[in-house]
Amino acid sequence: MKVLGILGSPRIGGNSDILLDQALAGAKDAGAEVEKIILCQKKISGCFDCGKCNATGICAVQDDMPGIHQKILEANAIIHSVPTYFWSMTAQMKAYLDRWCAFFDAEWRWHKQYYPKMKGKKVGLITVCADPNVSTADPIVHSFKTTCDFTKLKWMGTVMASASAKGEIAQNESAKKEAFALGQKVATL
Ligand SMILES: Cc1cc2nc3c(=O)[nH]c(=O)nc-3n(C[C@H](O)[C@H](O)[C@H](O)COP(=O)(O)O)c2cc1C
Repeated sequence: MKVLGILGSPRIGGNSDILLDQALAGAKDAGAEVEKIILCQKKISGCFDCGKCNATGICAVQDDMPGIHQKILEANAIIHSVPTYFWSMTAQMKAYLDRWCAFFDAEWRWHKQYYPKMKGKKVGLITVCADPNVSTADPIVHSFKTTCDFTKLKWMGTVMASASAKGEIAQNESAKKEAFALGQKVATL
């Protein structure tokens, strides 16, 4: 069981990072092998909609994303963790998500070579926002959950937390517990 953590915050050691570490600790506790990718340390352009991947399944953009495509294929579960920026996900996470385009054909069906590995792959999400009302991050949840529903990935749920200053979430024992439990869940269910 391999669990891949994807950090969408540019603030390393910040709130999303702390919760992602908790989730990966939970996955490890449940016996999984874990790996974390910090998107801001990678070169990931947006999707150009050049359409080349529609036929080949191979992204024509030569940056770090094709390597991440491979990691996604190899993982049994992926946990994304991202702060809310202007009621949405960060640019880093959006660029990464848009580049999932390469997995699909022109009809948005999985390319045949990817389907066996992607079918039922588990996806979880952690959001952080400064707003005490965590539903501020609902558009991010909508984006990931709808993508999972549309593509038959297995949605494993969300941890939604509120924090503002860097590292503040470390004081929030219940959010950390929830993130740990999400990691355990993706590694076991
Ligand atoms: C550019 C920017 C935009 C933000 N927009 C929002 C927002 O729309 N709603 C909100 O509740 N918090 C917003 N925040 C606050 C962050 O979501 C919050 O500080 C969060 O804890 C950052 O998480 P991190 O430490 O993982 O980077 C914004 C922060 C930045 C830097």
